Amino acid sequence: MKDAVTAADLRRKKSTGEKIAFLTAYDYPTAALVDAAGMDAILVGDSVGMAVMGRENTLSVTMDVMVHHTAMVARAVKRALVVADMPFLSYHTGPEDAVRHAGRLVGEAGAHAVKLEGPVDQFGDCIRAILRAGIPVMGHVGLTPQSILHFGGFKVQGRDEADARRIKAAALALEEAGCFAVVLECVPAALAADITAVLSIPTIGIGAGAACDGQVLVMHDILGWGKTRFAKTFGDARTVMAEAFAGYVKEVKAGEYPGPEHGYP
Ligand code: KIV
Repeated sequence: MKDAVTAADLRRKKSTGEKIAFLTAYDYPTAALVDAAGMDAILVGDSVGMAVMGRENTLSVTMDVMVHHTAMVARAVKRALVVADMPFLSYHTGPEDAVRHAGRLVGEAGAHAVKLEGPVDQFGDCIRAILRAGIPVMGHVGLTPQSILHFGGFKVQGRDEADARRIKAAALALEEAGCFAVVLECVPAALAADITAVLSIPTIGIGAGAACDGQVLVMHDILGWGKTRFAKTFGDARTVMAEAFAGYVKEVKAGEYPGPEHGYP
């Protein structure tokens, strides 16, 4: 499509100073709305496990789940860049699996790029192999939810100097490996600002302050389901939906719905 956003466009936005708006989506109707709102990029995150599937974390999300949801989103989107998450254990076993799985997200499901978590010293060979296959890769550092068992919970990362240095080095290494952007999740705002200043690729923050080149949030967290400090309710869809469901129950029970106008003569 002529006006479709590309990974290269996101890199250009960093040089022009235009902030990047990024949000998750997991299905056809909501992805169509997100796209029509003018979002630059849509992430089919493995957060689907928590936001949609009712799981405690993202570790049980499989490739088949990611392909299923990415395909729904990609069918709906006309303009935004569709980025699909590589789920837990889809790249940890080596470059061959990484390329095959990234290829499924792009070829089978229709994503335009993939995102994977973790440092280059562990997954650099996977990142380079996916790039060689012609698939743009986005990195992710800070709180990487697939390492939740290692971190011992969803905790802010990079608070002490050594950890901050490690995260900054990881972000720089992702740029060097060829990633077109990097997510900074749950790190102090000053650290995110420092990383944003030294990287030539865009930083996309989530709980990482205002200095990042863009922001990404989980859709449900802006619609009234958010429980985190960094999320903001931009519209209370949760209440609107709850009221609609209760209204339907009430009218069916009272015999008020359906009216004559809802039936066939
Ligand atoms: O899975 C996801 O939604 C993510 C964002 C939180 C960045 O990785």
